[in-house]
Amino acid sequence: MKRLAVLGHPVAHSRSPAMQNAALKELGLADEWHYEAIDVAPEDFEPTVGEMVAGDFVGANVTIPHKEAALRLADTATPQAKAIGAANTLSFRHGAVEADNTDAGGLLDALPESPAGKRGLVLGAGGAARAVVWALNNEGAEVEVWNRTASRASELCFDLGGAPVSDPSQSDYKLIVNTTSVGLQGEDPFDGPLPLKEGEFKSEQVIVDLVYSASPTKLARAAREAGAPTVDGIEILVRQGARSLRIWTGQEPPLDVIRAAARSE
Ligand code: ATR
Repeated sequence: MKRLAVLGHPVAHSRSPAMQNAALKELGLADEWHYEAIDVAPEDFEPTVGEMVAGDFVGANVTIPHKEAALRLADTATPQAKAIGAANTLSFRHGAVEADNTDAGGLLDALPESPAGKRGLVLGAGGAARAVVWALNNEGAEVEVWNRTASRASELCFDLGGAPVSDPSQSDYKLIVNTTSVGLQGEDPFDGPLPLKEGEFKSEQVIVDLVYSASPTKLARAAREAGAPTVDGIEILVRQGARSLRIWTGQEPPLDVIRAAARSE
């Protein structure tokens, strides 16, 4: 058996096992390959990966809170994982751990068009924002970063490029990406926490809200009202998972099957 897993803490609600096992079945690999969720406390992360490498695991996805630790313990890492400072995909080959970050490419895959040469606003300066800013910069977008705590936006731009902005003008951007947790608990993003106004989106903008939600967030609904295309956190989860599966199996991932599994329940 070739085993795969997602390592997180907590991890019980992860959609990745359903997505990846559905994809492995569609590819005719389900007899040979299996993907599971493993809850690992931070202090157990490194020994657990060590056991997986020595056992029959070929790779793993890594999620909160282990993404930085995953990069640290890897023997080799891709340039994007190193720049972002976090890995979400590990591959185990000949006893060595290779780290990659498919969150960045997953965002680009999910966009309806390339952001090259376009002005983009990233809201937030945490781990998710780092992958987004790296991806947009690498693709040739003009990136500006706003964060509630302004110093974190400055630090992120110092590390990865882009320009910090304290008072962004919403209509100036072709792309707006919310990487903050605002909206996760149903908060109103237009009630003060973000520098956005509900009625000021335009149809030629693309609005991305990384917040995971089965139904459209208030931010996405306001963008759609204006006729703007939206991308949600589940589509980015689908695309990062597809990239990880391609790394491990070398096969073309069945996107529709992965998407249906991600959105079921
Ligand atoms: P992640 O790794 O998912 O990006 P994180 O590092 O905890 O998580 O970052 C959360 C982001 O959401 C930060 O940009 C945070 O802003 P601060 O740096 O000022 O803390 C942002 N955030 C969380 N709650 C917020 C709120 N109520 N209003 C505005 N921004 C908020």
